[in-house]
Amino acid sequence: MKAPTLRGPFDPGGQPSLTIDNHLHLSLFAWNVSSGLSASKAVLSDVERHRDFWKWPNASKLIRAIEDAGFDSQLQYGMWSGYGGETGWNDAGLDFATAATASAAVTERIGIYSTIHVGYNVSPLFLAKLFSDIDHVSGGRLGVNVVAGQNAVDYAQFGLVGPPTQEIRYAIADEMTTALKLLWTSDEPVDFEGEHFQMYGAQVNPRATSRPRPLLICAASSDIGLDYATRQCDALFVTADDNAVAGYQKKAAKIHAMAAEHGRQVRIAAMCYVVMEESDAKARETTEWMRREIDRGAIETWLTRSGHILNSEVQRVSEGVFGDARASSGVMEDPYLGIGKEHYESLGMGMGAYKLFGSYESIADQLIALYEAGVGQFALSFFDPQRGIQQMRDHVLPILRERGYNRILA
Ligand SMILES: Cc1cc2nc3c(=O)[nH]c(=O)nc-3n(C[C@H](O)[C@H](O)[C@H](O)COP(=O)(O)O)c2cc1C
Repeated sequence: MKAPTLRGPFDPGGQPSLTIDNHLHLSLFAWNVSSGLSASKAVLSDVERHRDFWKWPNASKLIRAIEDAGFDSQLQYGMWSGYGGETGWNDAGLDFATAATASAAVTERIGIYSTIHVGYNVSPLFLAKLFSDIDHVSGGRLGVNVVAGQNAVDYAQFGLVGPPTQEIRYAIADEMTTALKLLWTSDEPVDFEGEHFQMYGAQVNPRATSRPRPLLICAASSDIGLDYATRQCDALFVTADDNAVAGYQKKAAKIHAMAAEHGRQVRIAAMCYVVMEESDAKARETTEWMRREIDRGAIETWLTRSGHILNSEVQRVSEGVFGDARASSGVMEDPYLGIGKEHYESLGMGMGAYKLFGSYESIADQLIALYEAGVGQFALSFFDPQRGIQQMRDHVLPILRERGYNRILA
């Protein structure tokens, strides 16, 4: 069959179901990369717990523990290179296919959400085949987080010059998503003649097990990215600048309106960095310590690689690295690398995620406030995942259940 369209909105068989009433969808996020969202030398106090939890003997326990605790899914962080520094932030990790397949094999209920990059000249057929098989192994629990890569170093690793413009990044994502949806659902071989991808007589067998198809997630933040995500994906990550619930509410309303224009519904998701203790005062003590230990070298690399943050401070050189231009800008002399204390610390402790710091009660209150503001899914990353999962199971989930915000799912 000839592809009926190259771009979204395209939902053959409809969208996957997105909500369960009065239930906060909890995901364990970034468990598959070293240090997760912690760019703090505090991780060196116990590297096995705080940095190397991604290694499979550790990670397999975490994945089983979240299923037992009552989480809803695991969500991987997709990366092809890390940020170095003294801690080797995100320098090592498990890839999107291995992490998802292995997680599927050791669990029975939770969603298996993988993260892929489009833009590195990987064929949709290749990805559709891997994902259909992971969905098969997991019994229909797959979800896919689509990243339109923007990391110049990773484009170079694939032998490409990049990143392309935002328009091109999301045009590639659009075609890739349409092709994946077709391959996952079509009983006939597919001809797809796009600008970025071509396939003739392409088919995967087995097709996706999920009905109508795997859930698609996107963390775009630009308007072009949001346009793509609201046409093609089902769950959208939102970030707000000042950790204020109102910011999430405002963005959620904007995104729902954009999706509605295409006759679609989406779930709003938030990335959260969690440090919890028995009391707010004790949590403050822990976060103060982590703050003092922020890994400046790692933050510097993150800022350089992500490009958009330092663009206003320094002139970007053509290869996508800042090189000498950075030295002359004064940014290097600034203790906060030119982005201000608050932003610097927010990157070091959670890569800009919502900061869920405090006592168990206070964590539950904040989760509920975000849920009431329209956030349906919480991608939680813990400084100490092993302890964090236990704390969620023993303290926070019981509060959420008592207050009617979490159901025990079979
Ligand atoms: C919650 C969240 C999760 C993300 N996960 C990843 C990831 O795993 N890998 C990655 O390369 N980029 C990731 N990103 C980056 C986004 O996909 C996106 O490129 C970024 O927010 C910039 O938006 P834009 O592409 O619309 O410019 C993430 C961003 C957010 C906010």
